[in-house]
Amino acid sequence: MKFVVTAGPTREPIDPIRFLSNRSSGKMGYAIASAAIEEGHEVILISGPVALSPPVAARVIQVTTSDEMYEAVHGALAKTDVLVMCAAVADYKPAATAKEKIKKRDEALSLELVPTRDILKSLPKTRDYFVVGFAAETDDVEKHAREKLRHKNCNMIVANDVSDSASGMESDENAVTIFLGDGEMKKISRAPKEKIARALVKIILETSKRF
Ligand code: CTP
Repeated sequence: MKFVVTAGPTREPIDPIRFLSNRSSGKMGYAIASAAIEEGHEVILISGPVALSPPVAARVIQVTTSDEMYEAVHGALAKTDVLVMCAAVADYKPAATAKEKIKKRDEALSLELVPTRDILKSLPKTRDYFVVGFAAETDDVEKHAREKLRHKNCNMIVANDVSDSASGMESDENAVTIFLGDGEMKKISRAPKEKIARALVKIILETSKRF
């Protein structure tokens, strides 16, 4: 099977030396890419800027901004069986990028932000690949994850509680709850991200067979 996996953060430039980003380390996405390769699948890994070495057998597409990630995902979808949107894509970007470094002044500075394009929402509703979204939540995890499953037209949502510093962003461990379109829910308890990734790939393969 062919997997497209996105990982890491995006960077939205403010000026030539500054950007908006988030704490995503890319560890979960890279672990999913490795787990899928271990199971013998072909993997395209679309990665934002991270400090990790990709699995050797993956075809890696490096991107920086949410717009580049959007184009890379759409460009990689031909003959894809599974898309895993693990990347922490920025929700907003500066309305304009200054061409020169913004100079310090003795007054407040406001930045105008505009929404980025939502990659999951941009996917066609009728499609022949299975779509896994992620939900990083700090509160009401189940409610928000189920909303994302519906609004973002995913086949599966993997939710993690990022308010807990032992799991989720930057951590080597994670604990996730998986929500499926038919109302089913599965939990994977706290474990290293490599172990979570192997369990996730198994669940994705089982579920995508029924889809
Ligand atoms: N996502 C996306 N395109 C974006 C932003 C997010 O495809 N521009 C995807 C992420 O890769 C993830 C899912 O949407 O699979 C949910 O991301 P999350 O940050 O949890 O949710 P948001 O949609 O950004 O909503 P909020 O920040 O309000 O929780």
